[in-house]
Amino acid sequence: MRHLMSPLDFSVEELDELLALAHDIELHPEKYAHACEGKKLATLFYEPSTRTRLSFEAAMLNLGGNIFGFSSAASSSAAKGESVSDTIRMISCYADICAMRHPKEGAPMVASRVSSIPVINAGDGGHQHPTQTLTDLLTIHSLKGRLGNFTIGLCGDLKFGRTVHSLVRALARYKNVNFIFISPEELRIPDYMKEVLDENGLPYREVERIEDVMPELDILYMTRVQRERFFNEEDYVRLKDFYILNKKKMTLAKKDMIVMHPLPRVNEISVEVDSDPRAVYFKQVQYGVYVRMALILTLLEVKVC
Ligand code: CP
Repeated sequence: MRHLMSPLDFSVEELDELLALAHDIELHPEKYAHACEGKKLATLFYEPSTRTRLSFEAAMLNLGGNIFGFSSAASSSAAKGESVSDTIRMISCYADICAMRHPKEGAPMVASRVSSIPVINAGDGGHQHPTQTLTDLLTIHSLKGRLGNFTIGLCGDLKFGRTVHSLVRALARYKNVNFIFISPEELRIPDYMKEVLDENGLPYREVERIEDVMPELDILYMTRVQRERFFNEEDYVRLKDFYILNKKKMTLAKKDMIVMHPLPRVNEISVEVDSDPRAVYFKQVQYGVYVRMALILTLLEVKVC
């Protein structure tokens, strides 16, 4: 039995297979419509979510399976003090697979150690968000045709942004990826992430102004400044509007650059950018359903001919 805690849990070859399966699901959804009949997915969300929880649920329903779960710690027995380990032991009796989001880093890992069903990390604190990374990889592969040989700018909250940390780790395994980290001083990418790139011999730069690097980028990955990870409101208010991508800044970009965002967006992308064909963040959401369908099939070892 396999769990998914980090995008590195899959080898590059296994990721290629997963993305190929997601692509086949996109092309032939009817082939997969009954693949998980009789199976149940539990969504255990101790932290708020729109996309991740609902895309997991849509994915299982698209596969003909069933879903149940909770969407906040307050509506579960966590509010009475039940541990993650005890909860997953219960859920193992009810479901075939589960997706867990938790504010504490490592909580899904703790669950996986006592679980008798596959556990998927759906985001743990500021640590990892592997299924967002699978979504991002499928988006890049589908729209740029490759996972390497490009310059990617990651912009915004690079300190707390778990989607950024997971994506950098995943892309570090591909060739000729040039990273540009765009952030204010206070939200810089942590040193341990730079070490990942140093170990893989991949180039990176850190800059503060998005305008300075816009013409170089093949991919711009925008992120939100995360209010929930700040220790004080004053710092959040000072930094929250540091970057606002607008039409004027988009004129500096390549004609085929793509703008990605894990969402939710707050102010960092002006709505006027949404109609630009290079803005692909809503397409990214659709890819998130295909790749989660592929992940559920893979972890449940369901083969569709
Ligand atoms: N991208 C993402 O994780 O969105 P949610 O927080 O809405 O799940």
